[in-house]
Amino acid sequence: MIAKRTDCLRVTRTLTVTPAAPEPHAIADAAACLLGGGLVAFPTETVYGLGVSALEAAAVRRLFAAKGRPADDPLIVHVASVQDISPLIAIRPPAVEALAARFWPGPLTLVLPRSALVPDEVTAGLDTVAIRVPAHPVAHALLQAAAIPVAAPSANLFSRPSPTRAAHVLEDLDGRIDLVLDGGPTWVGVESTVLDLTGEVPTVLRPGAVTLDMLRTVLPAARMRGDDSRDSGPQRSPGLLSRHYAPRAPLTLYDGPSGPALERLAHDAREARAAGRRVGVLVADDDALPALDVLRPPLGAAGDANAIAARLYAALRELDAAGVDEILARAHPVLEGLGDAIGDRLRRAAAGRVIRCG
Ligand code: TXA
Ligand code: MG
Repeated sequence: MIAKRTDCLRVTRTLTVTPAAPEPHAIADAAACLLGGGLVAFPTETVYGLGVSALEAAAVRRLFAAKGRPADDPLIVHVASVQDISPLIAIRPPAVEALAARFWPGPLTLVLPRSALVPDEVTAGLDTVAIRVPAHPVAHALLQAAAIPVAAPSANLFSRPSPTRAAHVLEDLDGRIDLVLDGGPTWVGVESTVLDLTGEVPTVLRPGAVTLDMLRTVLPAARMRGDDSRDSGPQRSPGLLSRHYAPRAPLTLYDGPSGPALERLAHDAREARAAGRRVGVLVADDDALPALDVLRPPLGAAGDANAIAARLYAALRELDAAGVDEILARAHPVLEGLGDAIGDRLRRAAAGRVIRCG
């Protein structure tokens, strides 16, 4: 256990814990901090979350301030088990039981009609609440010890990539939060799948490790947001904006078959270098590029969606920390599993700068 600085409040303490079996005294310390209205970052299987008591409106407002997050972006409430959701919801759609049995604990968030117990600050005034039961032993132990619902967005400053290790949390939030439980790198690397169960058709608002195909084994009618004209109305989930995942340097995405995409990417990288710009490239480790004077952080093999998802945000942060002027990224169109989630996050980071090749 490393106590980083303990002199006064709002100095961020770090407690290092064993990911698979977190030390009970560290968990008790973090739980007490949450119960006292504090802000505690902790690892989940997806990304680090910044937790606060979901039932204390004032604490939730402090969390929004610490992150610099707009108040119209609702939070996910984390609980230890499916039994704990009853007080938080007004109606329990029949699908919840089957979904929970198959995917909880795990990287699936369900949007459900909320009860009056949940403060407006958590839901941004919506009549729905997003809930998940995380699988990470540290998250689970913390939720059990605190025995309260914990609202937790990703533990990054607003518009920075989500943190996948404790160092990322400190990069953004040191001195702005009370405690970080350092449980090492997270496993999945991208945020949970968000499934809205409040409409006529179950709709994935954000793709994640629980894929649409997996959801359809339980809910055959489930669909992805954006797949048809029903989505032309107002944005259902205000947090699902492109700026949410932006690195500091502008990112351009090269879409299409790998040959033409890599060729165009290499061409543009060479031109940017010739113009004196520092360039970072985000391509698979086995993608063949000619010799270029660019930064190329490791990402994982082209066919390995799990590896790429786990490395994606760390690689974006490495490029930002190196001070590159632009990032050129290859889209990975044929990845199975986490492929949809990777494509979604890259498109958001690109915010419209997509070049179709081939
Ligand atoms: O994996 C994750 O989900 C991580 C870990 C910490 O659990 N959390 C996370 O939280 O990614 P955040 O705040 O970065 O993203 C929450 C997403 C946002 O896109 C938000 O708009 C959506 O969930 N959301 C929350 N409440 C909602 C609601 N009532 N209706 C629709 N979308 C909602
Ligand atoms: Mg986030």
